[in-house]
Amino acid sequence: MPYSIPGPRSVSILEKGRHLARDGCGYEEPVSDASGQGFMEHPPQFINDRAEGPWIYDPDGNRYVDFHAGWASNPLGNAHPEIIEAVVKALKRWGFSYGHPLQYELAERLVEISPAKKLRRVNFEISGTEAAEAAVSTALFRKERPLVIVFEDAFHGDSIAARALSSLNSDRAKYLEAWRGGAIHVPYPHTYHVPAGMNPEQYADYIIWYIEDFICSKVTPPESIAGILFEPCMAEGGNWIPPATFITGLKRLAGQFDWLLLADEVLVGLGRTGRMWAVVHWDLVPDVLVTGKNLSGGIEPIAAILGTEEVMAENEAHSGSTFAGSPAGCAAALKTLELFERDGVVEYVRRMGEKALQRMQKWPRMFEIVGQVRGIGLLLGASIVDKETGKADREMALSVYYEALRHGAWLINDNEANIRLYPALNIEEDTLEYGLTAVEEALAVLGRERKGYRCSAYPTFD
Ligand SMILES: Cc1ncc(COP(=O)(O)O)c(C=O)c1O
Repeated sequence: MPYSIPGPRSVSILEKGRHLARDGCGYEEPVSDASGQGFMEHPPQFINDRAEGPWIYDPDGNRYVDFHAGWASNPLGNAHPEIIEAVVKALKRWGFSYGHPLQYELAERLVEISPAKKLRRVNFEISGTEAAEAAVSTALFRKERPLVIVFEDAFHGDSIAARALSSLNSDRAKYLEAWRGGAIHVPYPHTYHVPAGMNPEQYADYIIWYIEDFICSKVTPPESIAGILFEPCMAEGGNWIPPATFITGLKRLAGQFDWLLLADEVLVGLGRTGRMWAVVHWDLVPDVLVTGKNLSGGIEPIAAILGTEEVMAENEAHSGSTFAGSPAGCAAALKTLELFERDGVVEYVRRMGEKALQRMQKWPRMFEIVGQVRGIGLLLGASIVDKETGKADREMALSVYYEALRHGAWLINDNEANIRLYPALNIEEDTLEYGLTAVEEALAVLGRERKGYRCSAYPTFD
């Protein structure tokens, strides 16, 4: 039986805080708007009462497989006891203070695991947002050039500068359009919904051509561009995996025009794709690599950029902030990396990823609302479409998110026509299968019977 959520205990918590949330006041309106249009009134929002390993428990006794994973930041499941222990130890010894040795240990470890061990300089940041911005300012200062190339559907963070570098959807760019001055936005080669008549490889080739022949001859001379900020697999935009020719094309352009390659692996790095870094799939060593999320072990925020000697040494760009490289953050990262090695996590991700993808590949045949699925390691995504028109359907994707909750799986859907799954990298096979069953049940229900849910009637403090 699907859960009836939110249960009474969850509701009482939700009601308490509703009016305090940024979007909380609009509650009655969207609910009546939704029901007036024949949609379900109450999307089944829930309260996270306890998070443990790959599971989340609500206060009403229901449990969920956690494919949300702290927005893909808990590599080894929720509240990993060994990481917590390491963090507590660091807090007891150093609290928050500067000059502690863990930052040197962590820098050394990051250099060791960097692609081909070639990124030998490290700068700590707190968030992925800061780190992505740091990569860009590092490139601008090294090249003494004002522009960078970035991609449509990319997400590099929610600060003003990071939004200018991103283009996840136009709502997020609202009123910031003019701040994009230094960023040249070009398409990213999705493997679905590519322009008519093209296959994904042709689309990738077109984009490389567009940069080389259009941007560099009509928009700006290539000497004004410092580098390319790119996600080797595009995460927030829908967990897309680009054709290999896209990555090799970027590499060629960088060589040809003396541009730096800035790989944002905040979400896809550190094991998510079944390699330590996603760029390794294409034997690419970027000039700067941006990391975050998983580095925290899901316990204590920390992020970093890693770069080559040539790019980072004696570079006058400024980045970082007060709490960057904190003792607790470094302790969390060091323990996470130790557990990765001890438990063979990256190799395990490859195996689990293959199993998950094998099962998901049946979805487009099983469910008319699934247009396409994709996966690399445990970076898993599916495009949700209108079953009559076959067109991308954001509202139905949101409905799948809600319905999956009722069946016991917590996914990610962020105003997009995709569902995204980020299982813990050490998830047990049974738990993974249980979660995929829950998603399949949701897809079956929505594809068959219902119109779906209209809106988030309960507020979220995001
Ligand atoms: C690729 C990428 N870069 C940067 C960020 C921003 O990271 P944070 O939210 O830690 O600031 C994200 C967050 O989702 C991301 O996916």
